[in-house]
Amino acid sequence: MRVLGIETSCDETGIAIYDKQQGLLSHTLYSQVKLHADYGGVVPELASRDHIRKIVPLIEKALEEANCSKEDLDGIAYTQGPGLIGALLVGSSVARGLAFSWNLPVIGVHHMEGHLLAPMLEDNPPPFPFVALLVSGGHSMMIDVEGIGKYTVLGESIDDAAGEAFDKTAKLLGLDYPGGPLLAKLAEKGEAGHYNFPRPMTNKPGLDFSFSGLKTFAAYTIRDCDGSAQTHANIAYAFQEAVVDTLMIKCRRALKQTKRKRLVISGGVSANRHLRSAMKTMMDSMKGEVFYPALDLCTDNGAMIAYAGCQRLSAGQVSSLSDVAKPRWSLEELPPI
Ligand code: KG4
Ligand code: ZN
Repeated sequence: MRVLGIETSCDETGIAIYDKQQGLLSHTLYSQVKLHADYGGVVPELASRDHIRKIVPLIEKALEEANCSKEDLDGIAYTQGPGLIGALLVGSSVARGLAFSWNLPVIGVHHMEGHLLAPMLEDNPPPFPFVALLVSGGHSMMIDVEGIGKYTVLGESIDDAAGEAFDKTAKLLGLDYPGGPLLAKLAEKGEAGHYNFPRPMTNKPGLDFSFSGLKTFAAYTIRDCDGSAQTHANIAYAFQEAVVDTLMIKCRRALKQTKRKRLVISGGVSANRHLRSAMKTMMDSMKGEVFYPALDLCTDNGAMIAYAGCQRLSAGQVSSLSDVAKPRWSLEELPPI
């Protein structure tokens, strides 16, 4: 089975072609980062308009790079939600329009299921069951995963997502949008021992997260600091340390609670090098294993949507052409396969 995947939930137009036997055949991406940089965040209306401009040429490019034509496809998968409604509508309209005219089955994919399954595209995919930590710009979630569609949400952020906290703190440090990777780069020049950020919600039991207090702590720290480049690097270091430490405490707790030995970390923030090395050390000490997507598949992309869609289509699941985009959608509503 060969599936065209379409991702347009936020500010990346991602198109890919995944083949169940041969793996990922092509994966193209257009990032709108420059378009939104002046505004310090994603402007929904601009995002939808840019998806409209890029989506068809990217589909043509993905088909060409995979050396296949529409006749070689067996289905189309698109991100049905959650995300920005206008952006979702572009992908869902194009996907359903193509499915109708090419006479192909179509499947609406949950964006976070896409992130969750992205490590399945690697050479050493995680076997089920496992605990998944999803840390993106819009969501932070801890999930117990028994199989595809068998998800129990163990905890989530009650305010800002981890990526959002990175971006907002980066902005306070004068870095461009999206600031997560730039803050991580700045933190490499930072020294330990100058600042001690709180580890939010780690003293209370439970697996929910809260990152907005960390951002407020950063705001006061930056306001009161001497403003030198080294001090900013030290603040970035301490902030990153606090986020990673908090995520580690919660992962350890989730693994104990569920008695799982495997951890999957996905979503934009899983590209963070410090997070990856700290989690690896933790899992080694727990005699467990940690799995990640490839670096370019941590952030939004079409490959994860094509993969998730292919699994569901090959299990006989299809969406209706009249399905609507779902800006809000719980992972626990998904049917198992
Ligand atoms: O998964 P994603 O592409 O978007 C959503 O679905 O929300 O994640 C984007 C987020 C942004 O907040 C970005 O700053 C963050 O992931 N991010 C990072 C790193 N790379 C991307 N945060 C920390 N360190 C990184 N290396
Ligand atoms: Zn995402």
